[in-house]
Amino acid sequence: MEAQATYNYKVVRQFSIMTVVWGIVGMLVGVIIAAQLVWPDLTYGIPFLSYGRLRPLHTNAVIFAFGGSALFATSYYVVQRTCHTRLFSDGLAAFTFWGWQVVILLAAITLPLGITTSKEYAELEWPIDILITLVWVTYAVVFFGTIMKRKTTHIYVANWFFGAFILTVALLHVVNSAELPVSLFKSYSAYAGVQDAMVQWWYGHNAVGFFLTAGFLGMMYYFVPKQAGRPVYSYRLSVVHFWALIFTYMWAGPHHLHYTALPDWTQSIGMLFSLILLAPSWGGMINGIMTLSGAWHKLRTDPILKFLVTSLSFYGMSTFEGPMMAIKSVNALSHYTDWTVGHVHSGALGWVAMVSIGCMYYLIPRLFGRDQMYSIKLITAHFWIATIGVVLYIAAMWIAGVAEGLMWRAVNPDGTLTYSFAEAVKMTYPFLTIRLTGGLMFLSGMLIMAYNVFKTVSGAKAVNDAAIPAVAGAHA
Ligand code: HEM
Ligand code: HEM
Repeated sequence: MEAQATYNYKVVRQFSIMTVVWGIVGMLVGVIIAAQLVWPDLTYGIPFLSYGRLRPLHTNAVIFAFGGSALFATSYYVVQRTCHTRLFSDGLAAFTFWGWQVVILLAAITLPLGITTSKEYAELEWPIDILITLVWVTYAVVFFGTIMKRKTTHIYVANWFFGAFILTVALLHVVNSAELPVSLFKSYSAYAGVQDAMVQWWYGHNAVGFFLTAGFLGMMYYFVPKQAGRPVYSYRLSVVHFWALIFTYMWAGPHHLHYTALPDWTQSIGMLFSLILLAPSWGGMINGIMTLSGAWHKLRTDPILKFLVTSLSFYGMSTFEGPMMAIKSVNALSHYTDWTVGHVHSGALGWVAMVSIGCMYYLIPRLFGRDQMYSIKLITAHFWIATIGVVLYIAAMWIAGVAEGLMWRAVNPDGTLTYSFAEAVKMTYPFLTIRLTGGLMFLSGMLIMAYNVFKTVSGAKAVNDAAIPAVAGAHA
């Protein structure tokens, strides 16, 4: 049989398994820092276990290691299946897997040592930045190379989203990481002062828009129709969704810098585009949810579909909340408070993690030649424990955040502050404990998943190359 007639499942499998592994590691660090906020002396003042060093370790592990592995796995799977062709190059795909794992290991070593650029979500120092660039360019070559050699006439919409994510992240990373090295472990940003802030949050917000959203929408457009057994609700809407979303996200970054030295008009543009962003975000969510038309009954029995559809509901919630928080007067209350952290996790846990988990439950049996996961009941258990965990997390943060904002601004008739800062900190204590409980629940769900995955794959024969079905036409 000629080599062309199979799909490369090996690299998809490697990234899928690492999604589960890094999910557990990243969320465990999340639980540890959540516990540190309840018990500040938890790690006995050991520098490399301090909150300031573990927090970026958490964000890097969940976004780039867990989310990144899920994105690599699903994009490689989807691009092959929808283009009816094998990946452009097995060798280059393998390089992206091993290269990305090395980046993650280097992050796990350098961040606890306190080696950091101090730019949020771009903390890794310059030698690692160069490796990221190499891996990412290779990823682009593999992905777009596969699109180029496709056997289908059109390019399925999921690939548009994956493609935009890959191109934009390359641009964001290269521009924001422009820096002057002064030693192997230290560099200074090429930008200074307010320009640095502006570039950083252009990057930061588009990291949300493209790393944490566009690629995951690519997953939605393939796996929701697949799992529901229905075609996507509206192909036309998906095209409008795509162009509107990628155009609008680019301009919204300044909403992270309200009331700063950034020129006021740029803040207003950031706010305006954030409000506009509600429309494409909800258009996409509706397109995903309405794909279930005629298949709603499946939701009752299919926990994978439950994960996928619930993730879309959280996506809808966080993309309603985000534009509201971008309104200057609302941001005056929410900024610096736990409300932001609540918003982040309704997107990150509710949307990003849940859609990834749903996709992994779809993929893993197929990558190991099994019909389905070892236990459907355990997927259902995972779904409920995760959903209750997210709700506890975000509800606790909303209450704590709004209360903090109100307490900080409360003034007595004589103009003095009603509450000291420490009183506001004390108020948050029960809510931080509830957040920790929610986080622990979400992590427990991941451990249930790990057990289920282990039972599914043990004794199974991993599929390295899967035959490409002869039938042309709709995405297979
Ligand atoms: C068990 C699950 C998780 C727990 C317990 C957890 C906990 C935390 C905690 C305690 C913080 C610091 C908040 C603060 O500084 O006040 C944090 C920050 C953050 N986490 Fe998580 N997290 C979890 C999962 C995730 C996942 C899956 C993602 C992304 C996909 C994520 C993304 C982030 C981000 C982006 C921040 C920084 C937020 C900001 O700067 O406003 N987390 N997390
Ligand atoms: C229409 C879509 C969205 C808009 C307009 C939006 C808007 C905002 C606003 C105004 C803030 C607070 C900035 C501040 O006060 O510092 C924020 C923070 C944040 N949002 Fe969103 N958001 C959206 C969707 C999402 C989604 C879907 C996710 C996750 C998947 C997400 C992740 C984050 C993160 C990580 C931060 C914290 C950044 C930081 O300070 O470190 N957002 N967002």
